Amino acid sequence: MKTRFLSALGILVLALLIGFAACVNPREGYAPEQPIAFSHQLHAGVNQIPCQYCHVSVGESHKASIPGVNTCMNCHSQVSGRTPEGKREIQKIRNAWKTGDPIDWVKVHDLPDHVRFSHQPHIMAGKDCTECHGQVNTMDVVATQNELNMGWCVNCHRQPENNAPIECFTCHY
Ligand code: HEC
Ligand code: HEC
Ligand code: HEC
Ligand code: HEC
Ligand code: HEC
Repeated sequence: MKTRFLSALGILVLALLIGFAACVNPREGYAPEQPIAFSHQLHAGVNQIPCQYCHVSVGESHKASIPGVNTCMNCHSQVSGRTPEGKREIQKIRNAWKTGDPIDWVKVHDLPDHVRFSHQPHIMAGKDCTECHGQVNTMDVVATQNELNMGWCVNCHRQPENNAPIECFTCHY
């Protein structure tokens, strides 16, 4: 009797916690300003640079990796930009390259530390970037396309065609 009551209480507390986290943390549409006005629309859209040219490790590892200054300099040692603002932003890349300072990109997606997520199994299963990130190649500023909460992950894992595990330890340490 007592244990049953306690487990019911546990589930209630869990439900409240999850509900609370969802309310105070509406992450959909989060699009922080970046230290350099980098546009995916211009690079991945207009110039059709493949995602993995810059996000090199996305298929093999846990992290998708944000490119370093050297990757930008592959082109921007030559390409200087068309508008005065564009030229000013590109100058920031060259300055960082000279001083050796990294560019402090602000994280857009950031799951809590207790969650286990890796790109690798998703890419292996044939999931496209757009399924989780939307049409990034049309975005001047990257914005999150969903709440990145537990419901979002589990809903997709539950789809019969995905056949992905939903045990708690799949996603929690
Ligand atoms: C020329 C290099 C380059 C290309 C090509 C590129 N990206 Fe990016 N990407 C970046 C940089 C730099 C950032 C960090 C700044 C920002 O968030 O805009 C970034 C950030 C992101 C983020 C947000 C990361 C975070 O902090 O959560 C996502 C998602 C993303 N890119 C997806 C894509 C997808 C999908 C494509 C292909 C359609 C792509 N990128 C092509 C350079 C690139
Ligand atoms: C494969 C080549 C390539 C790479 C790599 C690349 N860019 Fe570019 N970038 C371009 C081209 C092409 C333009 C268009 C400007 C032009 O035609 O003069 C551009 C334009 C820009 C502009 C100016 C936009 C404007 O309004 O003129 C910025 C800022 C910029 N890139 C930032 C970055 C950053 C930051 C990185 C590294 C994360 C990066 N680029 C990597 C090719 C590249
Ligand atoms: C199944 C959903 C899913 C797919 C498919 C997916 N991503 Fe992600 N991506 C995420 C999540 C969730 C995060 C946040 C991870 C974190 O905070 O630990 C993320 C984070 C990122 C980041 C930030 C750096 C990092 O690894 O945390 C970049 C860049 C990125 N994704 C690019 C891509 C690209 C490029 C593709 C396609 C090749 C892609 N993603 C496919 C869900 C996805
Ligand atoms: C668009 C659908 C989709 C979304 C959204 C999604 N996943 Fe997945 N996930 C999959 C598929 C498909 C697999 C691969 C299943 C297989 O083939 O084994 C997978 C596999 C995984 C695996 C590896 C499981 C294993 O042991 O094989 C982990 C961990 C994981 N996902 C965590 C997450 C987390 C955490 C989130 C949310 C932040 C998330 N996923 C969102 C579809 C998705
Ligand atoms: C497919 C991945 C996935 C599975 C399976 C999963 N979780 Fe989660 N869980 C998440 C993610 C992602 C978050 C972070 C949500 C957020 O930050 O909004 C989370 C958050 C939580 C939280 C903290 C509350 C919160 O919203 O931050 C608890 C407690 C939790 N999960 C318990 C469980 C339990 C118990 C199970 C098994 C019944 C489980 N999870 C299975 C992905 C998963």
